[in-house]
Amino acid sequence: MSEALMKAALCRRYGPPEVFETGEAPRPAPRDDEILVRIHASAVTASDTYIRGFKLPLKVHIPLRLAMGIFRPRKVVQGIVFSGVVESAGPKTQRFSLGDEVYGMTGFHLGCYAEYVCSKDADSPRRGCIAAKPKSLTHEEATAAAYGGLLALGVIERGNPRPGNAVFVYGASGTTGTIAVPYLAQLGTEVTAACSEENRDFVASLGAAKTLNYADEASVNLLEDYDLVLDCVGKHKSSPLREELNRRYGEAILSIDDGSMQLLSPRLDRIRTTVDDGGLRPTVDRVFPLEEIGTAHAYVETLHKRGGVAIRMIDG
Ligand SMILES: NC(=O)c1ccc[n+]([C@@H]2O[C@H](COP(=O)([O-])OP(=O)(O)OC[C@H]3O[C@@H](n4cnc5c(N)ncnc54)[C@H](OP(=O)(O)O)[C@@H]3O)[C@@H](O)[C@H]2O)c1
Repeated sequence: MSEALMKAALCRRYGPPEVFETGEAPRPAPRDDEILVRIHASAVTASDTYIRGFKLPLKVHIPLRLAMGIFRPRKVVQGIVFSGVVESAGPKTQRFSLGDEVYGMTGFHLGCYAEYVCSKDADSPRRGCIAAKPKSLTHEEATAAAYGGLLALGVIERGNPRPGNAVFVYGASGTTGTIAVPYLAQLGTEVTAACSEENRDFVASLGAAKTLNYADEASVNLLEDYDLVLDCVGKHKSSPLREELNRRYGEAILSIDDGSMQLLSPRLDRIRTTVDDGGLRPTVDRVFPLEEIGTAHAYVETLHKRGGVAIRMIDG
């Protein structure tokens, strides 16, 4: 019997956004403990661009190169975020049935730039996490909720903010920041958020009580005292304001870069509840068809997207 194929973006070598080509790949077959998801949308995140170009931190460079392919990617179908519909569920899975809408991440298992992906029913650092998708979101929005939500809750839960706390969010306009700001606001904290001048009104509309332009040196004089300082864009994005926060709060700053991203479905469940209760709505900056995935990667590499960037696999 001939192998079933699916449409996919293929990455046969590490390199710039142009390395992608659209083609066909074998359609994955779910094991007994796996769910086969028909992908409606994937995402291009900062992590996707690092994996494509193999621009990963030195401390993980060698182990990941061994795992992901020394000279070229072992898995030609990349992509770490999915939102879609359960196509079939193995006999040892429990949580989902045919037709359920789900969202999640595959992490370094990759495979999301395609029509189908398999996900284990249980969370696993290598195989990712899956949960029921927020009903009120499109699949594109759900991809931003998955990646931004997992990063945002990773850092927020470490800080354990209480209602009334003053919380500073550095980098409020990216995928993580646009989830963190409304999530913190609905917890009853007072959020001060740093973003560029052109994003200040937008970030205020997400629930920030105060906004500061990170590129304006005068913002340093407007800093107050905060119970928590969260870095929601990563330590490589700096500014005089960030340097002053480092000086004042040092190791107390909680960064999305500390430790590895935890792929936990209970966190996806919390994001879904908050979204469906009206507490937040993720932002999607741009949506690209799979055929334009290279353009999407190049856009994300400008480092100035607002919220998430999604890849639409099928309409609806
Ligand atoms: N720990 C882990 O395992 C792990 C895993 C995955 C990701 N990460 C981290 O998470 C990051 C991606 O987060 P993300 O997707 O939420 O970010 P993102 O969406 O890629 O960030 C884009 C935003 O960054 C803002 N920005 C650009 N330069 C800035 C600066 N100098 N200061 C403040 N903001 C700046 C831009 O705002 P303007 O356009 O307004 O400038 C834009 O809205 C990765 O780069 C990595 O550091 C960590």
